[in-house]
Amino acid sequence: MTQDEPTSAGPVWPGSAFDPDNREAVAVIDFGSQYSQLIARRVRECNVYCELIPYNAPPERFASLRPRGFILSGGPASVYQEGAPRLPEFVLRSGLPILGICYGMQLLAFHLGGEVAPGTRREYGHAELRLDPPVASIFEGLPESFPVWMSHGDVITRLPQGFRPMAHTENSPLAAMGNDAGIFGIQFHPEVVHTPLGKEIIRNFLFRECGCRGTWTPGSYIAETVAKIRDQVGDGRVICALSGGVDSTVAATLIQRAIGDRLTCVFVNNGLLRLNEAESTLETFRRHLRLNVVYVDASERFLTALKGIIDPEQKRRIIGETFIRVFEEEAARLGRIEFLAQGTLYPDVIESTSYDTTVAAKIKSHHNVGGLPEKMDFALVEPLRYLFKDEVRRVGLELGLPEAMVWRQPFPGPGLAVRVIGEVTRERLDTLRLADAIVNEEVARTELPRPVWQSFAVLTPLQTVGVMGDGRTYANVVAVRIVHSEDGMTADWARVPYDLLARISTRIVNEVPGVNRVVYDISSKPPSTIEWE
Ligand code: XMP
Repeated sequence: MTQDEPTSAGPVWPGSAFDPDNREAVAVIDFGSQYSQLIARRVRECNVYCELIPYNAPPERFASLRPRGFILSGGPASVYQEGAPRLPEFVLRSGLPILGICYGMQLLAFHLGGEVAPGTRREYGHAELRLDPPVASIFEGLPESFPVWMSHGDVITRLPQGFRPMAHTENSPLAAMGNDAGIFGIQFHPEVVHTPLGKEIIRNFLFRECGCRGTWTPGSYIAETVAKIRDQVGDGRVICALSGGVDSTVAATLIQRAIGDRLTCVFVNNGLLRLNEAESTLETFRRHLRLNVVYVDASERFLTALKGIIDPEQKRRIIGETFIRVFEEEAARLGRIEFLAQGTLYPDVIESTSYDTTVAAKIKSHHNVGGLPEKMDFALVEPLRYLFKDEVRRVGLELGLPEAMVWRQPFPGPGLAVRVIGEVTRERLDTLRLADAIVNEEVARTELPRPVWQSFAVLTPLQTVGVMGDGRTYANVVAVRIVHSEDGMTADWARVPYDLLARISTRIVNEVPGVNRVVYDISSKPPSTIEWE
């Protein structure tokens, strides 16, 4: 059997040092710092699995992780404040290594009999950390002094018994402390990029104190997840809505590895996809990934539902509702299916379970369903529930997904409907498709200083006067949008070479019937958005 063949039984595949019963994990205890997720990311970059768990979560949540150590995050509180978050009792009793960061360090001092006091002034920003001899294990291999990032009000004024100072800065004589039992506190933030050697400190803690070896890799994640899916699904069947995006594709591929053809995928063509997208995506699903896909061409139905609609939010609602109806009908046709796959990612899980958003948990847990019905009678299979987006991509590559799919630009669920401004008709969609394909062909052909986040065409509702040959034209205006972004929350228009814009413009006007003018969108987000609708 090769790794690519679907399998419905048998052991997880070889070649991974991973032992599912002996997974290395640490718990990152969240005290509300804006950097908590970053700590989790840095730990995982060391190939050690971790989960971010609110400080007031039930002890069983920590126990089921079987952690080899604890990292305590920072937080906005002050330890002597009334109602300030406290360290769960079992953490100190566990005898496991602990690394307290900022508020986490202050908590350790507070609980272990040290003294914490408001600093004479807040320390915020860069500082030079100097190590105190003898060099502590968490600083091993690091230079005697290096830059760190500080952000704190309180400071430790007396160490708990058995602790010694391990490093200082100009303003913090006790910038790091530790004892012989593997309990450490650091006043600065090793998880942020402004502490360039921070990851080494975290790595030292994980490897030298917690005894981790870094066996958590995309391969081990696949092995573990495949085993878990088999466990959960048993002899059951799973249905999965595929969009062509990386999340649903990776989720489906993992499930298929686990249960083979008992996974049925549904790929709905809503008629709002890009040029040749339905065909090429389907080809990848079927030929390359050998997924069991039901293809539903519902273009007509979506276009009929969108007739006469120009309001963007109404478009979104209609597309969402139509999708649900189509999906439900397909699911009913397939007979009894017990499980529904979803591509929920870890940031959604964190957001819905963090201690200050527990009230919103129920709403948020349905947030990432891509418009799937909430009341369907399915148990959920969520194979990406513990991954960040870039980890999903790494798993995707390890699973053998094509690079183009793994690195695909984000594409909105409502598709081209929010890029045809005004009424969505088949004819206008066809015009946009041709223009959009030209934009992306030319962008792909050009070596840009840095990769772009999204590049696409928008069909505006404007008509303008032009001249072609000897005749006057009165035709459509196409806008070109090319943006840089880290996460879609903010964006800047890309300063692409004029030559690229010239090629795009010439080709669109020459090759796309009904277009006589091209403009380039030079707005950033905020105050604009990436999509026009
Ligand atoms: P905006 O236009 O809000 O977009 O700056 C930010 C990112 O989200 C994508 N986007 C959507 N994705 N459904 C989606 O699945 C939507 O309705 C939607 N609207 C915008 C957009 O492409 C960009 O990456």
